[in-house]
Order: sequence, then C-alpha cells, then structure tokens
Amino acid sequence: MSQKVRLRRLRYNKIVRDLVEDTHLRPQDLIYPIFVCEGSNIKKEINSMPGQFQVSIDNLSSICNRLLDLNVKSVILFGVPDKKDGEGKVAQDENGIVQRAVQEIKKINSDILVIVDLCHCQYTTHGHCGTIENGDVDNDKTVTNLGLQAISLAKAGADVIAPSDMMDGRVNHLRTVLDKNNFEKLPIFSYSVKYASAFYGPFRDAAENSPQSGDRKSYQMNYKNSIEALREAETDINEGADALIIKPAMSYLDIIYRVKSKFNIPVIAYNVSGEYSMVKSATEKKWIDKNIILEILTSMKRAGANAIITYHAIEIADYLNNN
Ligand code: PBG
Repeated sequence: MSQKVRLRRLRYNKIVRDLVEDTHLRPQDLIYPIFVCEGSNIKKEINSMPGQFQVSIDNLSSICNRLLDLNVKSVILFGVPDKKDGEGKVAQDENGIVQRAVQEIKKINSDILVIVDLCHCQYTTHGHCGTIENGDVDNDKTVTNLGLQAISLAKAGADVIAPSDMMDGRVNHLRTVLDKNNFEKLPIFSYSVKYASAFYGPFRDAAENSPQSGDRKSYQMNYKNSIEALREAETDINEGADALIIKPAMSYLDIIYRVKSKFNIPVIAYNVSGEYSMVKSATEKKWIDKNIILEILTSMKRAGANAIITYHAIEIADYLNNN
C-alpha cells in the first residue's frame, strides 16, 4: 500500500510521543482548596468528598509542607466559621477564621501563594451569597460588604482576592477599595463565569453553606448560556480583573475554550467538588482507572486553562513528580 501520510509514525516511540506533546500539566499549575474551621487538632473528613477535610488552623502546617514538597505552591482558602449573621459581617472580622488562617500560612512559609475566596454564603445564617432584601440578594449592599471583607483579608496578608459571589460591579468596587487602601499590587482573580450548578453539591457539605431556602439562580449563571459567559468575562476584564476563573470546569470546557480564544487574559479552571466526588467514588470502586484524573485535568489545560483549582492536587502532584 502506498501511503505517505502515516500519523502513527509519531506514536510508536515514547520519546517521540513526548517530544510532540503540546499540553503539559505541572504541579505548579495546581491550586489546592482548603476548608478551615475553628477548634484545635481537627481534621474532619468530608462525607461526600473522601480524602478531603475540614481542618483547624493548627493543622495547616502539615498540609502546607506537604504541598511545598510536591511543588504545589498555591492554595485557596474557604472559611467554615462558628458564628454567622444576616449579612455575613463575620467575614470582615480581623480575627475571622480565614484572616487567622492566612496569617498562619504566611508564618509557615511566606512563599505559598494564598488565594482567598470572597463570598458571603459560608458566613450568612441563610446561606445566600449576600444580604437579603425583599426576598432576594441585594446586589449593591452585598458589594459594599465584599469590599470590607476584601480589605480585611488583604490586611491579614492574602496574596490574591477571588470574588465568587457573582454580584454585578464587584470587581470594579474591589479594585477601587483595594487601591484606596494601598493594595494596588494585589491581584483579583475573578470567578467571572460561575454557573448555578449541581456540581457544587459536595462543597456545600464541606463549607456548610447551603442556601436555607431557594437557590442561587438569581445570581449564578444559567448553564444553557454561553454568550452570557463572554459578557461576564468582558465585564470583569473591563472592571480590572487580572485573571478569570471558570466553574465548573469538566462539563464547561467549551466555555474555557471560548473565553480563552476571545480574550487575552489568564484563565483558571475550577475542577469543582462534584467533579471530584464522581471521579473519586468510581476510582475507589475500581470502576474506572485512576489515570482518568490526569486525563480530565489535562483536558482543562488543552481547552485553554493556565491553572486549575483542584481537590486532586496532592495525589496528582505526587504522580507527576514520580513519573
Ligand atoms: C461560593 C463558592 C462555591 C464554590 C466555591 N465558592 C459554592 C456555591 O456557590 O455554593 C463551589 C466549589 C466546589 O463545588 O468545589 N463561596
């Protein structure tokens, strides 16, 4: 048979295969989410997320040292406070759970990049992402409170602010108040594109932030839309976001690809809790091979993500360092 083009020629030899790869996943591309709770010596496994824990501040050093050993250099913090209130004011407390966790991590090793999730759902009694007025989350009151939370976290030493509330105009407000308080060097990684998603189910177990009534559809996006994702991205870029976070990731690779193709800005994929738990339960049962994790995370990079927030960070970094 006369066949000049044989694509398999690049596939016979592993060294050749490695040479022609165009997507790479590195430990330093990964951001590890940590749920910090009150108390001491607490490491409480999250029921719906095997292998993930709520940890007290005194247990942060073992996690951070492990991450650094593996070359994972970034964490994103979620607070699980003891007390909540109607407006999530506890999130602004200079002695709040996340503020103290940031200070502790900076003491453990100042080289770890500490990203803080900025939202009120873990801090409000009703579990919504902002202040309720007339039966719905009030956009502008919430944005004002987010600004106060951001300043408090910046003062505690956070390296990056990541607003995940989906209020309009929050990036503009955050940039303004951060700059006014001399934090003009502090980047905003905005969750620009955040869909109302069943994939967040296990996270709500972990962060204890389920809405007591209703859902988040008046602020998070409808998953049937993609043009709206581009508008969200464009708005946040114009308001001063430094990088965009897209979540969920696995069923939203088209969105990652579209945003990345259209805008010149770094994109971070959030491989969310439901994606983690589905894979974790099936691999533990040996219904699917663990290699699927690498395949999923690589597909996010192939779609255009620069970095990935993932609960798999430790196991995958371990694998990457040893293979
Ligand atoms: C809101 C927030 C949520 C997640 C990250 N930040 C959840 C929500 O909207 O309920 C979900 C992340 C995940 O599922 O892993 N603070």
